[in-house]
Amino acid sequence: MSSSPVMSSPPINIVEELQVITAQNLEKLEVSKYYEVIRELGKGTYGKVDLVVHKIRGTKMALKFLKKKTTKLRSFLREYSISLYLSPCPFIINMFGIAFETDDYYVFAQEYAVAGDLFDIIPPQVGLPEPVAKRCVHQVGIALDYMHYKKLVHRDIKPENVLIFDRECRKVKLSDFGMTRRAGSPVKRVSGTIPYTAPELCGAAEPAEGFCVEPATDVWAFGVLLFCMLTGNFPWEKALPTDAFYEEFSRWQRARRVGGGPVPSQWRRFTDEALRMFRKLLSLDPQRRCSVKEVFRHFGRCWMVDSEVGISVGAAAAAGGGSGSVMGSHQGALSSTSEEDEEDEDLLVDRMKQQTLSPVVCGGPKGGAMETGSPQGHHYTTVVGMPPGGYERMPRDNTSGSRILVTTPIEICV
Ligand SMILES: Nc1ncnc2c1ncn2[C@@H]1O[C@H](COP(=O)(O)OP(=O)(O)O)[C@@H](O)[C@H]1O
Ligand SMILES: [Mg+2]
Repeated sequence: MSSSPVMSSPPINIVEELQVITAQNLEKLEVSKYYEVIRELGKGTYGKVDLVVHKIRGTKMALKFLKKKTTKLRSFLREYSISLYLSPCPFIINMFGIAFETDDYYVFAQEYAVAGDLFDIIPPQVGLPEPVAKRCVHQVGIALDYMHYKKLVHRDIKPENVLIFDRECRKVKLSDFGMTRRAGSPVKRVSGTIPYTAPELCGAAEPAEGFCVEPATDVWAFGVLLFCMLTGNFPWEKALPTDAFYEEFSRWQRARRVGGGPVPSQWRRFTDEALRMFRKLLSLDPQRRCSVKEVFRHFGRCWMVDSEVGISVGAAAAAGGGSGSVMGSHQGALSSTSEEDEEDEDLLVDRMKQQTLSPVVCGGPKGGAMETGSPQGHHYTTVVGMPPGGYERMPRDNTSGSRILVTTPIEICV
């Protein structure tokens, strides 16, 4: 009996298939015919993101417009297809399956995140209350772990790319897959660095063979993101020896154990538990850096020194691995998956959907009440001369804000 063509065909690369199908069906539309624009949600040299309402269905959605002048069709198709492919994850922004072009833009539709992005709610120099930060970290961590499980690397982890649905971070979603690439694929060097850029990508010398995309670079950025959320500061401006804050940190990292060398001043606000976590997330050697899942092992304990003072009974129970702890059970579920590659994909998604997202409550000055006040006027503010105290939005390119201290990688990767 001869095998059927279906059986003998090579495995389909779904993302590539989605790109082909999208390209074949890409229609030219007039936005105003189908959508009413309510307001702009984001803007950059790449294009813009608008909040719109579908005129017939009344559905609110976010339309991402990418300028044809500066965006190749291939890049648009890749970003759209990867976003669509990942959207079953409950902690990744949902898609409507809508992609089209206008005279000047390539466009796709996403669900609208009503509270904007994470950057908007981090009070500069202060940081989020620990329970809020933990809730957010938990969800972003699952999203990133899901991506890595799918062998994809986000490559642009930062607060601006974490969309939020409420200011207490009960529902947050990872977004912006414009830089995402398959793990192991070769990329050219990026020009410019931001505080989230891993040290192996910050180095001045370019290896002859170029770079390979590695999940470890996301893990580094995730570690920096955690620091930003908890403190409202960047830990450094650039992960380079010329940066005094980074140099102090890397000296401490090179010393063996916590307590083996003086903890850098920026990091003294963290508990030993949090420091242990940071040391693994921000390992200088990408080969030795932990996976994203590492953070789940540390949820049961307080991360900020000031919140340790008022540790609640619930937190204490969880810290001891109490069976009543939501985090305790979650921790078990996620940390015992060293063979995650073999896991059934649907099971993984189901399990993620079942996650209860309430973190252990840490008391103390920062851990108590939620801060709901808007951090007014911190956008694009520059604190020249006092890095890493400054906390500012990172544009996708370095042409749109001359007052901004640090630059964002300009993507030149193929
Ligand atoms: N679905 C959405 N809902 C609400 N705001 C959004 C949405 N998508 C994007 N934004 C806003 O627009 C900004 C830019 O969008 P993003 O997709 O990150 O574009 P870029 O590729 O230029 O970084 C985000 O940082 C966020 O503030
Ligand atoms: Mg972005």
